[in-house]
Amino acid sequence: MTQRTVAVPPGTIQIAASILSADFAELGRDIAAVERGGADLIHIDVMDGHFVPNITIGTPVVRAIKRVATRPLDVHLMIEQPERYVDDFVGAGADLLSVHVEAARHLHRTIAHIKSRGVLAGAVLNPSTPASALEEIAGELDFVLVMSVNPGFGGQEFIPQSVEKLRRVREVLARGGCSVPIEIDGGIDHANAADVVAAGATILVAGNAIFGAADPEAATRALRAACGSATRA
Ligand code: DX5
Ligand code: ZN
Repeated sequence: MTQRTVAVPPGTIQIAASILSADFAELGRDIAAVERGGADLIHIDVMDGHFVPNITIGTPVVRAIKRVATRPLDVHLMIEQPERYVDDFVGAGADLLSVHVEAARHLHRTIAHIKSRGVLAGAVLNPSTPASALEEIAGELDFVLVMSVNPGFGGQEFIPQSVEKLRRVREVLARGGCSVPIEIDGGIDHANAADVVAAGATILVAGNAIFGAADPEAATRALRAACGSATRA
């Protein structure tokens, strides 16, 4: 069994750099830059052209990233029937693996399977999926991912209602007696970082705000600074 569980302590802030907006011809260079800038996680968006309109990255690229990255790989599966690919992405080097509640028909089984492989398991909510969708699964999760754009593309505008959604997710988790990290993904930048942290987000995914900047290393530092007084452990 693969055993590579990494701790994502609740209450501390982590920056997950989304390589979707990186230069794919210079991935190693770009990953090294955000790691120097203090990125805690490397966020990898896997899209299948069915669950979302776009097609992006598969296991060969994840495996290649694993060879050069020094931070845990946070693999976000935007694919139908994600259970079919859990073992492949674990084998390729995922440290955190998240599946959409809208795509995983037997979510409980899929989450249990991810955890059985020694990888942190997360459930993802699309913007239109209510926080209450987590009620029966909250106790099984290692983390929750709240989409603050409709998944499929980088560089989209943050949906403002996502701030209230974070609060509702936090309430659902608290009612279930669990305080797992809440990740937010989509349109995160220096202007909204403090708001999402105040609402309960503890892992901030950023693609365009980091790799769309002239200096991704500095942009990673700036994003953490924008989170306010909250800092990572
Ligand atoms: C969107 C992806 C995101 C995306 C975020 O479907 O899940 O991870 O890369 O990119 P930005 O920060 O540019 O919105
Ligand atoms: Zn993502």
